[in-house]
Amino acid sequence: MSHTHDIQQISKVDDSFSLKELNLMLKKKNKSIPTKFLYDDLGSKLFEEISNTKEYYLTRTEKKILNKYSSKIINESGARELLELGSGSSKKTKLLILEALKVENNITYVSFDISEKALKMSYEELKNISSNLNIKLVKGDFINDLEKLDHTDKPRLYLFLGSTLGNFNNETAIKFLSNISKKMKKNDFLLLGVDKIKNKEIIKAAYNDQAGITEKFNKNILNVINKEYDLNFNPKMFRHVAEFNEDKNQIEMYLKAISDQKINSHIENIKINLGEKILTEISRKFSDSSIDEIFQNSGLETVHDFKDERNYYSLYLLKSS
Ligand code: SAH
Ligand code: AVI
Repeated sequence: MSHTHDIQQISKVDDSFSLKELNLMLKKKNKSIPTKFLYDDLGSKLFEEISNTKEYYLTRTEKKILNKYSSKIINESGARELLELGSGSSKKTKLLILEALKVENNITYVSFDISEKALKMSYEELKNISSNLNIKLVKGDFINDLEKLDHTDKPRLYLFLGSTLGNFNNETAIKFLSNISKKMKKNDFLLLGVDKIKNKEIIKAAYNDQAGITEKFNKNILNVINKEYDLNFNPKMFRHVAEFNEDKNQIEMYLKAISDQKINSHIENIKINLGEKILTEISRKFSDSSIDEIFQNSGLETVHDFKDERNYYSLYLLKSS
């Protein structure tokens, strides 16, 4: 088998965000930490565990849709190359890759992620499925590094699964999707996983699993920035909070301080008061019309909306309009 285990690094990911910027975010009244810091080796492993909890319906529902429609998606898109942004372990994507290999004996899969652990898991998942599959691992930031991706003449299917679009505010979502839309050639498609509005208790439970894995995942962000920026946050001094903001239809994940704290930073020490919350992630839930509006503003057109029978989740096959 001709697979390579090399990871192409297309950005100096670690330099793309400075301690100065982080200090500023933690000094504001509404404190936050960039969501991408959830994903070091442990964070990627914990996300996999979250996706197996009974409460986290997203992964399981998306997988169900893929089980049913992968062959249709491959036929409609005519894809010969699959390029996945924020691939994680590629477990669900395997279904699409296997379908693609049925119709063509030379398929390329590009796994793009900020987390080296995710890229390694992806490789392990796929390395033995076929000698006709060419796997490329690319480490980079999908917000800053999209224009650095290689070009191909083959029909390409961009994949953005797992509802990761929900982690972007409207402005970022439109900028991100517009960038993809501009990159798309006539024969290219985008397959986008979107979590839909549903009973809020079901949504809240997904981010407050009883086994406490989401809590570990959230608190781990502090270990990641401690290591990256030589800080001394104590994760034990924070509580995991994931609440549903009904006005914005989004889960907001916070770390809430259980005491007054002072964190040492080489720029300026950070003060956090008892009860203060640090935002670590938003996870938006969309209606048909709210996601349509984003597509329109991003130069995308729906070719197909693949759903599960409960209407929990949609997989949109899109093309550039
Ligand atoms: N698509 C997978 C994984 C979703 S978790 C699934 O559906 O299960 C989100 C993934 O995006 C993680 O693997 C994480 O490492 C990656 N990620 C988060 N922020 C990123 C960024 N700024 N650039 C590239 N990848 C990122
Ligand atoms: C990757 N992302 C779409 C997940 C989500 O549901 O927002 C990450 C996650 N956060 C908490 N649980 C899972």
